[in-house]
Amino acid sequence: MSIFFIKSILSLFLIVLTVLLMFSMFEVLGRREKKYSIDNLKRVHRISGYVYILSFLTITYFCLHYIASAKTELSSRASLHSFIAVTILALLGIKLSFIRIYRQSYDQVRYLGIAIAILTFGLVSLSGGYHMLISKFGTDTSFNSFVQYKATMNIEKDKNKKILGIIIDEDAEGIGRGKNLFDSKCSFCHEAYSAEYKVGPGLKRVLKNARLPVSNKPALPENIIKQIKQPFNRMPSFEYLTDEEIDDLLAFLNTL
Ligand code: HEC
Repeated sequence: MSIFFIKSILSLFLIVLTVLLMFSMFEVLGRREKKYSIDNLKRVHRISGYVYILSFLTITYFCLHYIASAKTELSSRASLHSFIAVTILALLGIKLSFIRIYRQSYDQVRYLGIAIAILTFGLVSLSGGYHMLISKFGTDTSFNSFVQYKATMNIEKDKNKKILGIIIDEDAEGIGRGKNLFDSKCSFCHEAYSAEYKVGPGLKRVLKNARLPVSNKPALPENIIKQIKQPFNRMPSFEYLTDEEIDDLLAFLNTL
């Protein structure tokens, strides 16, 4: 199960909590004749609030870990997503301070709550919603065909390009440097010694198999170089690697 999928599930859980939080708030503040016991509603609100914060921080941890490992610029979708997340955190902090310390401002707490709820919907539709949509709720088959569709588009574009015959270096030093590079840049998302999925596919036998695991392109060094420099879909680009570093990486991948 990929991190993206777990993150999407957690985000949808955030939505459920948000609905619960809004419901309990409106039932307490918005109705003159109460339908449910106020104490219970308050308890539901408080517990959901804590679970919300806990889930929020867990997801944030996944995201920061991903960004730190990918070492790449955020896409515009990801930038907007992080901006909304930071805003929610700030509003939550203000809200808690109004509840606990600045009690004079208590009246405004409800508006902060509504703002947080609306932003949460925006936040989740930009990430979990997006991912669930393109993977048809985690059933990876349609997601794969989408990826393959993009890949065939790329092959079409490549047809006119001359493919260079690339000779893979086989000396131990290069392989060693390649392994270090792999450990620092790729191992967060790829297993080297198995074909299991982590964030991306396991790369065991990547150059020995006939086809690359996701795009189904021929498993040629030039296609791997292309994936490293201009990856399709979710993998970050490593355009900044020098030609020597890429040679070393290929030397290592060739041993798998
Ligand atoms: C942040 C996660 C991440 C990092 C870091 C990463 N990859 Fe990937 N990689 C992916 C994902 C995800 C895919 C699957 C394609 C997709 O869905 O975008 C992938 C696919 C691949 C593929 C298969 C491409 C195909 O055409 O099937 C290769 C080869 C690959 N990566 C090599 C590398 C190498 C080499 C590095 C290190 C320089 C690296 N990756 C770093 C996430 C990552």
